[in-house]
Amino acid sequence: MSGNEFVGYGRFQYHHQQLHCENTPLAELAKSYGTPLYVYSRAAILENARTFLAQAPASALVCYAVKANGNPAILRLLVEIGLGADVTSGGELFLALHAGFPPEKIIYSGVGKLRHEIEAALDANICALHVESAMELEQIAAIASQRQQVVSIGVRVNPDIPVGTHPYISTGAAQHKFGVSAETAVTLLHFAASHPWLKPVGIAAHIGSQIQEVAPFATSADFLVGLADELASSGIHLEYVDVGGGLGVNYETGDQSPKIEDWIRAVATPVESAGYRLVLEPGRAIVAGAGVLLTQVVYTKPQGGKQFAIVDAAMNDLLRPTLYSAHHAILPVTKVTGTLKVPVTYDVVGPICETGDFLGKERPLSLLSPGDLLAVCHAGAYGFAMSNNYNGRLRPAEVLVDDETAQLIRQRQTYEHLLEGTC
Ligand code: LLP
Repeated sequence: MSGNEFVGYGRFQYHHQQLHCENTPLAELAKSYGTPLYVYSRAAILENARTFLAQAPASALVCYAVKANGNPAILRLLVEIGLGADVTSGGELFLALHAGFPPEKIIYSGVGKLRHEIEAALDANICALHVESAMELEQIAAIASQRQQVVSIGVRVNPDIPVGTHPYISTGAAQHKFGVSAETAVTLLHFAASHPWLKPVGIAAHIGSQIQEVAPFATSADFLVGLADELASSGIHLEYVDVGGGLGVNYETGDQSPKIEDWIRAVATPVESAGYRLVLEPGRAIVAGAGVLLTQVVYTKPQGGKQFAIVDAAMNDLLRPTLYSAHHAILPVTKVTGTLKVPVTYDVVGPICETGDFLGKERPLSLLSPGDLLAVCHAGAYGFAMSNNYNGRLRPAEVLVDDETAQLIRQRQTYEHLLEGTC
C-alpha cells in the first residue's frame, strides 16, 4: 500500500474497485460463506511451492512445514507437486500421512516427542527423526531395539546464530530450548553410528522464522557443512544437511523477503559443493501471501481520541498481531474513490475481552460502516493454524479459490463444537 492508495498484491488484486482472489470477488465469498473467512489462492500456493522445486538442486528434498497451515486440501496440493513434509507432532504426522505425503519424504523435528509419537513415526517408516536431546535419542534407541527396526536419525543442532526476528520465533541461539550444541550433536551421532538399530543420516538446524536477511542462513549452512565434514573425517558419512525454514515475508507488500531464489542459492551452494543432499523446510514462504482473513465491520466508535473499527474477526482467528505485534496490511474489499473517499485512521479490533485483541493499529482506511468488508492480508501462514475457541468463539471457515471457483475446505465450527469431548 502506498500512502492512502489501496493496492492489491500477488493473487489478491482489485478489478473494478473490488478486491479479488484470482478471479473471484472476495465480496461474493463473504456472501456465500460468511465471515470471518480464510481465503486462499490455489495458484499462489502452487507458484510459491514450484519456485522452491525449480530453484533447489534436483536432488534436494523440500519439506513443507505443516505447522504453517495444515489444511488437508492444501497439503494434498503440495503432495501432488512432489513436496515432502516437516512435521512437529503426532498430529501433524497423521495429517501428513493422511494427505498422502510419501513417508520417505517426511521428517519429524520437535523437542518433546512422546513415545507414542515416536512409535507412529517408526510404524510409518518416515525419512528421519530429528533428535533434539540425548534423552530423546536414548528413548528412540530403546524403542528401535525393542522393535528390532533400523531408525534413521538426524540431529538438530543449535548453531548459536542470532537473528533479527521477534524473540518468540528466534530459535537458533544457545539459550533457546531447540536442538543441541555442536559438541553434543557429534556425541549423539557417534552414539547412533555405534548402535545396531540406529542409522545417522543427517544434520539439521532451524534458526528462526520470519528472518528477512540471507546472511544468517548462509552462516548456518556453512556451520552445518563444517560439522558434517568433521563427522566424515571420523568415519560418519551423513547423507543430508537440513537448513530448516525461516524465510521471511514482507508483511507490508506481500513480497518474499529475501527472495526464494536468493535464499536457496545461499544455502545450497555450501551444501551441494560439499557433496551432501540439501533438505529445506519452508512453511511461511509457501502459504503466507496466498491467504487473507476476510472480516466484516460490526460497529465503529470514536474513543479516547481514536477511531475503532470493531470487526467480526479477532485474536482467536489470527493471533499474530496480539502475540508478536505482527503487522498485517489491511485492505478494504471495496475500494472507495473520488469524492466519496473519506480517509479515516482506525484501530481494527475484535470483540474479545482483551485490550490486546487487535488486527491492526492506526490503519489509514476510508470511512467504514457496519457490513463493510476488510481483508487482513498475508494471513495464509500461522493464521488458521493458531486459531482457537477463546471467548467461546467458533473457528472460522476456509475456502480455496481456483480462478473463478471456490471450494469450501473447512466448515465454520458450530456451537456444538464447543461441547465436543466434554462430559
Ligand atoms: N522447521 C522447523 C523445525 C520449524 O520449527 C519451523 C517453524 C519451520 C521449519 C518453518 O518455518 P517458516 O519457514 O515457516 O518460518 N507462529 C509463528 C511462526 C513459528 C514458526 C515455528 N517453527 C508466526 O506466526 O510467525
